[in-house]
Amino acid sequence: MTDTTHRALENLSTAVLLFDDQLRLCYLNHAAEVLLARSRRQALDLRLSELLPHDQPFCTRLENVLISGHSFTEREMSMAFGGAQPVTVCCMVTPVLDGSTQRELLVELVRVDNHLRIQREGALLAQHTATRALVRGVAHEIKNPLGGLRGAAQLLERELSEESLKEYTRIIIGEADRLHKLLDQMLGPNTLPRKRAINIHEVLERVHTLVRSEMTASIEIHVDYDPSIPSVLADPDQLIQAFLNLVRNAAQALGTHGNITLRTRTRRQVTIASRRHRLVLQVDVVDDGPGIPADLAPYIFLPMVTGRADGVGFGLPIAQSLSNQNGGLLECVSQPGETIFSLILPLDHHFQQNEQPK
Ligand SMILES: Nc1ncnc2c1ncn2[C@@H]1O[C@H](COP(=O)(O)OP(=O)(O)O)[C@@H](O)[C@H]1O
Ligand SMILES: [Mg+2]
Repeated sequence: MTDTTHRALENLSTAVLLFDDQLRLCYLNHAAEVLLARSRRQALDLRLSELLPHDQPFCTRLENVLISGHSFTEREMSMAFGGAQPVTVCCMVTPVLDGSTQRELLVELVRVDNHLRIQREGALLAQHTATRALVRGVAHEIKNPLGGLRGAAQLLERELSEESLKEYTRIIIGEADRLHKLLDQMLGPNTLPRKRAINIHEVLERVHTLVRSEMTASIEIHVDYDPSIPSVLADPDQLIQAFLNLVRNAAQALGTHGNITLRTRTRRQVTIASRRHRLVLQVDVVDDGPGIPADLAPYIFLPMVTGRADGVGFGLPIAQSLSNQNGGLLECVSQPGETIFSLILPLDHHFQQNEQPK
């Protein structure tokens, strides 16, 4: 294989697998390793039936392609690779000749739910930007007259001689202050990120220390770090704020006891708002609490959406906004017993700086 072909195949987001005439795996690209959750070393030479032990019908279909020589395409197919959750893929199987008379099978797999997710992200980000602009506009409009109200109440308080009447001006001032705080939350982070190369684990350890003191002892915080993760270009204070919001939410969802895990991983070929990134960092905040109520789930990233009696609903939109400002994205999957908030940040700058053309 030439260098160029190799590079093209390895960077392809489609999983490419080649099976010999005995349906033994003789080639797989990087995307296929990710999809199978097996390294090349573990997967090569395995039979199809060993790779997909629970999918006899698919194995039979591929045997038939070997015999008949007819290719097939299936748009939405559910596949479970080695005990993992099934994924929906678009599958293309093409018989090819190996140079002599033997047939080989070329299998191309594209994750479909990944596509759906990317489209959703694009739409979601546009929607959030619009909502945020609206909320900020309203907050701004209220802030000015509120300042006037508070100032007037203070003046009035000074003029009042009767102590019992001052109670009323204090209520006005107190409530104005409360509203002011709320408006600041609605306006969200108002400084531009000051990005620099940071170690994500230092950020997470800081978050860990901060929340540790707030929580009951029966909420356990675990860490699961990938120490090989390179530095990320981001504003550490903004990331700390975003993670604090996530971890506090997790703790509130857990109530008195449960587990929170901070997990770091890298992922390849991920799309954030229609831009493909070769390498990204994914930080998961996982809890084993009750999960996000189903009726709330589609709206949790919108401002003022809350499922808690004393909630205000700004934690997640602010965390999302901070992620976006740092070039990233916040995602969530939740079911009872496992809620995962994933903050994804690009790591592409490593390629731009370090990559030498081959
Ligand atoms: N880890 C979680 N588990 C269950 N529900 C969650 C979790 N994180 C957030 N939520 C839900 O999302 C809602 C919105 O969160 P957030 O924007 O931080 O606002 P608030 O915390 O003020 O309610 C929460 O009220 C809760 O219902
Ligand atoms: Mg919150």
